[in-house]
Amino acid sequence: MPTVVDRGLEGVVVGSTQLSNVEGVVGRLTYRGYDIDDLAPNATFEEVVHLLLYGHLPNRHELEVLKRELGARRSLPEPLINAMQNVPKTAWPMDVLRTIVSGLALFSPVNAHGEHLSDVHSAIELVAKLPTIVAAWDRIRRGLNPVDPRADLSQAGNFLYMRSGKVPHVIEEDALDTYFVLLADHSYNASTFAARVTASTRADVYASITAALAALQGDLHGGAASAAYHTLTEVKSAERGEQYVRDTLNRGDRIMGMGHREYKVRDPRARHLEAMAKKLSAHVGNSKWYDIARSLEDASRKVLQEKKPDNTIYANVDFYTAPVLADLDIPGDEFTCLFACGRIAGWTSHVLEQLADNRLIRPQATYDGPPAGPYVPIDKRAANGARS
Ligand code: COA
Repeated sequence: MPTVVDRGLEGVVVGSTQLSNVEGVVGRLTYRGYDIDDLAPNATFEEVVHLLLYGHLPNRHELEVLKRELGARRSLPEPLINAMQNVPKTAWPMDVLRTIVSGLALFSPVNAHGEHLSDVHSAIELVAKLPTIVAAWDRIRRGLNPVDPRADLSQAGNFLYMRSGKVPHVIEEDALDTYFVLLADHSYNASTFAARVTASTRADVYASITAALAALQGDLHGGAASAAYHTLTEVKSAERGEQYVRDTLNRGDRIMGMGHREYKVRDPRARHLEAMAKKLSAHVGNSKWYDIARSLEDASRKVLQEKKPDNTIYANVDFYTAPVLADLDIPGDEFTCLFACGRIAGWTSHVLEQLADNRLIRPQATYDGPPAGPYVPIDKRAANGARS
């Protein structure tokens, strides 16, 4: 039978999940059966964390317990803060986040067999601590001291508080909370798959999340939001959108924040983020980011359709992430870290789901190197090391 190689695993089913369902043709995303169209305006990020980790939306008591746990676990071990103080101030925020998350494993309580205590405990610990790492590095690289987390604020509100030292306006807190809800899970995307592959070897939760963070970094995945922001800064004004799109496509480049492997219509998360970007823009007052993004999306659709009328390249989640996070005053090179602060809910839940019914993930590859041949002793090798 001929071997079929699926280079990007497109359409290949490698597992199952109860956590989220991406229906790319109709543009629907559900978490454990709840549509994000219902969750985004109604549920907080903490409720979604509970839904993903424990399987159901919390009642009031369960939500209070989870919020207390998250609040109690936000602080970082002192040596990790010190380590950040010694990192070059030019270090990229994602490199710092990945390194410090890996470092958290060193401070996690271990049992007599050298294993970390309870995977759920580690999962909540990571959900709680990721924003603290991002905010601490944000301040340290600006030459400021980190602000201690507050247990009484939400994940979103506390992050903004730790960055600025001020409790944020409710519109700003809501915007970031909605962003975290929308980013919380997305089935077997590249970083989640990396987490599940790592967990399948029976590596611990910290190692699995470190792998996920590494996979998130590139601009075909979580790095796209930073790239989309960079685009907005290059476009500069709403009027220049169409010319920018034409120049970019004529160079053979892509419009960042447009297109998706799964969605063949507009990403449903983009609609909520667009509305949030518009609201924030009005709140901020003199912001141009929403207008530029809006005109760039229209121009992209127009020009892409001229080139290929049946194309399915629409705005994805990262496109309107850019104006939302920019209007929250978050620097463009931190956007991927913010993505991680939302996706940590899904990553940790996927790791727990993988471990609950584990099988080592180990695919095959075809071999297309040289045929097997004899070993050549060093003195008999050609100048370039070839066999002859
Ligand atoms: N801008 C312009 N053209 C694009 C495009 C974009 N953002 N995304 C895809 N295309 C074009 C490709 O050039 C290709 O054209 P061709 O058939 O003429 O060669 C065609 O669409 C299919 O592209 P392909 O890379 O095979 O699709 P994919 O399913 O692998 O793409 C992405 C998915 C996300 C990798 C791709 O859309 C992309 O690179 N987007 C920009 C980065 C981004 O926003 N990533 C975040 C995703 S959430």
